[in-house]
Amino acid sequence: MKFPICIWFLFSSMCALSSSFLEVVPEYVNVEEIDDVNLKHTMIEYGKFFKRSFEKGRYIADLFLSSRPEYKGIFTPGSKISLETLDGEMELTLIKLLGSGGSKLFYELERNLALGRMKAHQVYEELRGHRFLEGIGILVNDIRPAVIFWSEKEVTYARPVFIGPTFESYMEKNAYVADLGRCGNIVEEFGEIQLTLSQLELFPSDVDLHSLEAWEPLISPLVKDLYKMYENGFVGPPDSRNVIFIGPGPLHSGKGTHFEVRAFPFDFSKKLSRTSLRKSLQPQSHSDLSKMATAYIEDVFWMIRTFPKYGEKVTSADEEKLIEKLIEKYFHAK
Ligand SMILES: Nc1ncnc2c1ncn2[C@@H]1O[C@H](COP(=O)(O)OP(=O)(O)O)[C@@H](O)[C@H]1O
Ligand SMILES: [Mg+2]
Repeated sequence: MKFPICIWFLFSSMCALSSSFLEVVPEYVNVEEIDDVNLKHTMIEYGKFFKRSFEKGRYIADLFLSSRPEYKGIFTPGSKISLETLDGEMELTLIKLLGSGGSKLFYELERNLALGRMKAHQVYEELRGHRFLEGIGILVNDIRPAVIFWSEKEVTYARPVFIGPTFESYMEKNAYVADLGRCGNIVEEFGEIQLTLSQLELFPSDVDLHSLEAWEPLISPLVKDLYKMYENGFVGPPDSRNVIFIGPGPLHSGKGTHFEVRAFPFDFSKKLSRTSLRKSLQPQSHSDLSKMATAYIEDVFWMIRTFPKYGEKVTSADEEKLIEKLIEKYFHAK
């Protein structure tokens, strides 16, 4: 190869590489590491959806978002949000900010929908985490990929997001999502969900809250979920440790009329680094399982004790004993 041709070849292949790198949003990058055939298929379909939708605008990578202040501007109450979803194009009014943590912002859109705004790789990882857990029988929020469009000087830009039901909308099904990491210990600081939950009867009225029998019907659906996650080698990051309280209604197992707690994990991704599914799926030891279970059960007890009517009845010493007994019964007895 002659020298100038060689330079040209090098230059053009670098250009091709960098432009394909910019185009290849993280959605496609880690599909190879997914062993489960169904999950892999779903994530490839999501990847194709994103790619197709990005062609309707100019995809802006995370790195270049700060030079597009107009993007930030569309997330204001009353703003009309243009979206491409798996069900087609739609325009929905943004109602309010629902919540935010270290790396994501969630907005309420009309139709009881929540829109998650975050780094592109997080959109992919959250979808993957939710779909993986759903595949093994864990209840998760039904989030779906979406692409958001906005215009600046007659140019249309595009970014990946996801949409799903708001946690508040589960209340219609007598179910209450508890973001365990964020539940304040002062009831006045609770959001609408915790406030409603704190006023409900979680236990049959005649039950003795100091007995294991009172807590077992509440906790045993969660125990089943923890075993499912353990048997599939999944221990999510601590932030994903969230639960849902389910009263009689469409999400309830139907056994009895008491409340049930189930795992309801979300928040699997990090802002600054990629999370590998293969790394999150490692064979776990039984002691990892009981550590995870203890953390979940402690959080559930802690939350219930912040509700005034139960806080008075169950002291922290009672709580410790009850948790110990539950862990012994479900996780050490084998
Ligand atoms: N579908 C939803 N409906 C209502 N609030 C939500 C929804 N999804 C997330 N949130 C709220 O947004 C906040 C941030 O979500 P999270 O996934 O924990 O992101 P972060 O990575 O920023 O911690 C949480 O407090 C959570 O309660
Ligand atoms: Mg969080």
